[in-house]
Amino acid sequence: MSDANAVAAQHEVSSYADAMAVLKDPVMVQALYDAGRAVMADALITLHGEEHSQRRIVEFGVFGRGFFRDYQREVFPAALAPVLAPYVQAGRADLIELGYRVTMNLTADLAGIDRRSGTVEETEALLQIVRTFSTGATLAHSTLDHDAVNAAVAAAMAQFDDRFLEPSIQRRRQLLSAGEPLPNDVLSKLLTSDRLQLADDVLRREIAFYLQAGAHSTANATVHALHNLLEWVDGDAARRQRLVDDPAWLQRCVHESLRLHPASPVALRRARRAATVVGLELAEGDLVTVNLHAANRDQLVFGADAERFNPSRELDAGVWPFGLTFGYGIHACLGRDLDGGVVAKPGAELQMGIVPMMVQALLKHGASWIPEEPPVDDPNTERAHFGSYPVKFDLDLVA
Ligand code: HEM
Repeated sequence: MSDANAVAAQHEVSSYADAMAVLKDPVMVQALYDAGRAVMADALITLHGEEHSQRRIVEFGVFGRGFFRDYQREVFPAALAPVLAPYVQAGRADLIELGYRVTMNLTADLAGIDRRSGTVEETEALLQIVRTFSTGATLAHSTLDHDAVNAAVAAAMAQFDDRFLEPSIQRRRQLLSAGEPLPNDVLSKLLTSDRLQLADDVLRREIAFYLQAGAHSTANATVHALHNLLEWVDGDAARRQRLVDDPAWLQRCVHESLRLHPASPVALRRARRAATVVGLELAEGDLVTVNLHAANRDQLVFGADAERFNPSRELDAGVWPFGLTFGYGIHACLGRDLDGGVVAKPGAELQMGIVPMMVQALLKHGASWIPEEPPVDDPNTERAHFGSYPVKFDLDLVA
């Protein structure tokens, strides 16, 4: 029995091996969103045991046979082209704005949120709602007034429900009653599952969680990746051409960037009973911070130059080139292969991943820095994110 008045001890692990061990230990359960229940309660990432695995199986059903091939050949190019075109025509873009617009739409499609008008205003409205959700989800680390954040989350939930979720549910119900096929998305899987019947509020938070999980991390990863690649190119035309001509190499470079910039620098777990984990004697309720940022720079695994961007580094078999950026264990990212792709196998069609495909498209349009407008750090977060990232599209750079 635990002592209800005892204060939970807080530990941290930062080596690659300890991080993996904590993330895969069934005693250790999700704790990062404890203060963000208004938006995160019962979302997949907060569950464990049977409830987690049943939900995950249903939602994983989105990635059925042929999904990645169709996504790469058709879905992604069709989604990217209309968003990218006006920026290319204007000759420049802010990569943060562009990245969010693309990834918000891609993520909404995967989650099952229809955009009925297809306008920029609609994408921006959804983005604003999702930003509010994320502020609520990470309340534990926020310096903002908690009551005010929770009130904003409640208002955003109501708006989300009216404008986006309810019409998307209704459309799917109408398709079902007309005997028409449903779109392949998480919402359709949940509405038609024989295994699960989620209450309305749980369904709402689950879809809201998907929108957060996909949009921010993909947009930020794309900006960091292009940044690392432009630094690596450093004006060398042959290096730029290699990235455009060799998708496997480009993917390798993006994985190296993902390793250095995990979307969330830490994971947090709580012991659900007393146990010894990686040598730590934990009481029930004790917390362990898993420092993914440090684990991904563990010199024992990534070598003496682990802090540096070096896409040519040699790795032992079984070590992911992107490290633990997509997590590990039961909560390992469901969008990993979709976003990061799958490491090239000889003779097989390369599954690029959304982030490498976005970076490839930007480079093919001659994306490069604007010397008089350098990127600016985001002042609203302690995390290493850019607040603005101006690029120009210089077609003279493209062979
Ligand atoms: C570069 C992009 C992304 C990164 C770096 C990333 C990273 C992560 C990480 C680290 C976790 C585990 C968190 C933990 O253990 O506490 C996670 C979980 C998850 N991610 Fe991602 N993610 C990305 C994109 C996506 C996308 C596009 C989707 C949409 C399909 C997605 C869906 C999920 C889901 C559903 C989970 C929870 C899985 C579970 O609890 O079983 N992620 N992600």
